[in-house]
Amino acid sequence: MLIDGINYRTIWWNAETKSVQIIDQTVLPHAFETLHVTTVSEMVLAISEMRVRGAPLIGASAAWGMVLAMRENAGDAFLEQSASALCASRPTAVNLRWAVERMLDVLRPMLPADRPAAAHGLAEVICDEDVALNRSIGRHGAVILRKMHETSRRPVNVLTHCNAGWLATVDWGTALAPVYAAFDEGIPLHVWVDETRPRNQGAALTAWELGRHGVAHTVIADNAGGHLMQHGQVDIVIVGADRVTAQGDVCNKIGTYLKALAAFDNQIPFYAAVPSPTIDWRMKDGLREIPIEERSPDEVARISGRMADGKIGTVDLLPSGSSAANPAFDVTPARLVTGIMTERGIARPQDLRTLFHQER
Ligand code: MRU
Repeated sequence: MLIDGINYRTIWWNAETKSVQIIDQTVLPHAFETLHVTTVSEMVLAISEMRVRGAPLIGASAAWGMVLAMRENAGDAFLEQSASALCASRPTAVNLRWAVERMLDVLRPMLPADRPAAAHGLAEVICDEDVALNRSIGRHGAVILRKMHETSRRPVNVLTHCNAGWLATVDWGTALAPVYAAFDEGIPLHVWVDETRPRNQGAALTAWELGRHGVAHTVIADNAGGHLMQHGQVDIVIVGADRVTAQGDVCNKIGTYLKALAAFDNQIPFYAAVPSPTIDWRMKDGLREIPIEERSPDEVARISGRMADGKIGTVDLLPSGSSAANPAFDVTPARLVTGIMTERGIARPQDLRTLFHQER
């Protein structure tokens, strides 16, 4: 995506410094800074501290983490140890485990001397594939937005939760890929952006990237969506996902389930946009089986932003003595999901297996 005329991906190899370069998402939207990651333990930290975040991007980051590991020490023990550390860095998004397992399948049978180059090649492939999958999701999803505009003859109002734009992937995004594709085709659109407490990925990241692309958008408090739906101001909800099960249950940022309930009650279509590495064919019942990350209560108890003096600051929100809890994801059951937008097309949850030729 273009930032001030320069085409960026969210992660890339810097051959000069021999490091992985990432956009530091913890300082956006107030600063645009990149970081050099040079060891696998730095990559584990970058993922757990959410300097990189979003399911497809943490998958790509884990792949690059394995490259760094193999450059440090290509022996069997370090290979396994690095893979385990990366997998444990964030538990919910299946893309992370998917990428690490894909690397292990290639690296395990090899001689240590051959591993660094092979890991590097595969990490590049994983990144390029992510871009291609997301572009394809965009093309399929844009068909729905175009049809909505042709029927209503007014701008299409999309509501989205968290950040599932290009910052959450290597490029293009998942939920925002159809928005960008439709916008680039000239279809008039407006996006309601849930602020997405506690870390405010909507207010900080989605609003920033939509603004850079020129897409009309309005940030709303997380609790406003249901009201807007009741008053006909939302035509479609599109979210990303951290894991979709074989029966079409959708795990995504905490609060997604409430949006799906409100959409269902107001007969508004609710879609999840996911590349195939986000689908966990090994799991069926999302509520019972998907591990939900519990993050630090500090993320609920405090809030960061730009202070009046221009510096970034953090302030306390809670009375002293109050405790906070911070489940980071929730599961929307398939019965509330209108469709899953994928690189292969759009399927109802119950038809997802058929779309990907998976056996029951
Ligand atoms: O905690 P985060 O910011 O990594 O959560 C991200 C989300 O929930 C996204 O919606 C999801 O990963 C899909 S990203 C294309």
